[in-house]
Amino acid sequence: MVNQTKKIALIGAGFVGASIAYSLVLDQTAETIVLIDLDRTKAKAEVDDIAHGLEGMGNAVIYEGDYSDCADSDLLIVTAGRGRKAGESRRDLADGNWQIIQQVLTSLSPYDNGCPILMITNPVDLLTAAVNRWRGQPFGSVFGSGCVLDSSRLVRCIARMVYRQDPQRQAACARTIQACVIGEHGDAQIPLWSGVRIEGQAPADYCAAHGIVWDAAARQRIAQETKKMGAAIIQAKGRTHFGIAACACRIARAVLHDEQITLSVSRPLAEQFSDAIPALSLPSVIGRKGIVSCPPVLWNHQEQQAFEESAAALREQLKALGSTAQRR
Ligand SMILES: NC(=O)c1ccc[n+]([C@@H]2O[C@H](COP(=O)([O-])OP(=O)(O)OC[C@H]3O[C@@H](n4cnc5c(N)ncnc54)[C@H](O)[C@@H]3O)[C@@H](O)[C@H]2O)c1
Repeated sequence: MVNQTKKIALIGAGFVGASIAYSLVLDQTAETIVLIDLDRTKAKAEVDDIAHGLEGMGNAVIYEGDYSDCADSDLLIVTAGRGRKAGESRRDLADGNWQIIQQVLTSLSPYDNGCPILMITNPVDLLTAAVNRWRGQPFGSVFGSGCVLDSSRLVRCIARMVYRQDPQRQAACARTIQACVIGEHGDAQIPLWSGVRIEGQAPADYCAAHGIVWDAAARQRIAQETKKMGAAIIQAKGRTHFGIAACACRIARAVLHDEQITLSVSRPLAEQFSDAIPALSLPSVIGRKGIVSCPPVLWNHQEQQAFEESAAALREQLKALGSTAQRR
């Protein structure tokens, strides 16, 4: 099938891949969406299930395909690989999912046109770095959803505290609260407290005016709650997929429409290519080519130190991760 404009290839049609496809169709982000999965029967069934509602959702062409369908894509989104079970950490998935991602890269290689690759599979930072290592330059064409989801969860947690009595304002919190999480997606995530704004005000000012305590203990509670949100959902229903789907859709829109918006995505920590560069989330400007610029980070000493510790740990994990995937 040939369609040159605004096409997204989704590799992996499990819960996350199918939910992203559904969000993309609802959002009318892309004109063409192809689902690629080892299990072609399942991918075809997901396509049919989504397509049966197309009359109410827009005109996207959605179909099940193979790696040759990546050749004319504007964005690849990779979700192939298993999710964590209750009690597991994302890092427990590293070796198994890297095996899967290497199979994906080997199959993709003849059809890789250099368009941005958005990694979702966990552990997302490690695999973003590993795929970047496989593809090499240009900087910014391989990046991960990283802390976009964590940032969204942080906004939600702050809203629960400051809009405690008001479910409608909690629901609208994405428009009134700005907050950003950086670092590793998951347990080592770092909230950037200095950047938080509530209705345009520093949180200490907003909270003082509304009789809310905004001290170190409150921030610690919010940070812990944010960190545990994914695990709590997995404990209760076995997986997470809707939240990440909306985040992936937001990122995809930024790429396909060259929006140049700033999001906390996972990206290699050096612009010059070398094999052992870890990837972690930092605010990054997203456009048609992926990450198009890296604004300076407004962090304090403690935040920067925590970030550097994560980077050092990831560098070691990346070295330990072998590679059999052939580069182009
Ligand atoms: N980054 C995030 O914020 C975030 C959030 C939620 C989930 N995830 C991750 O997304 C990934 C997918 O989760 P899920 O719930 O969809 O899992 P799932 O088990 O439902 O789906 C995985 C899919 O990958 C496919 N697959 C396996 N090997 C393949 C290969 N070699 N080539 C092509 N397809 C292959 C499987 O057939 C399956 O359809 C997991 O690693 C999960 O941890 C990431």
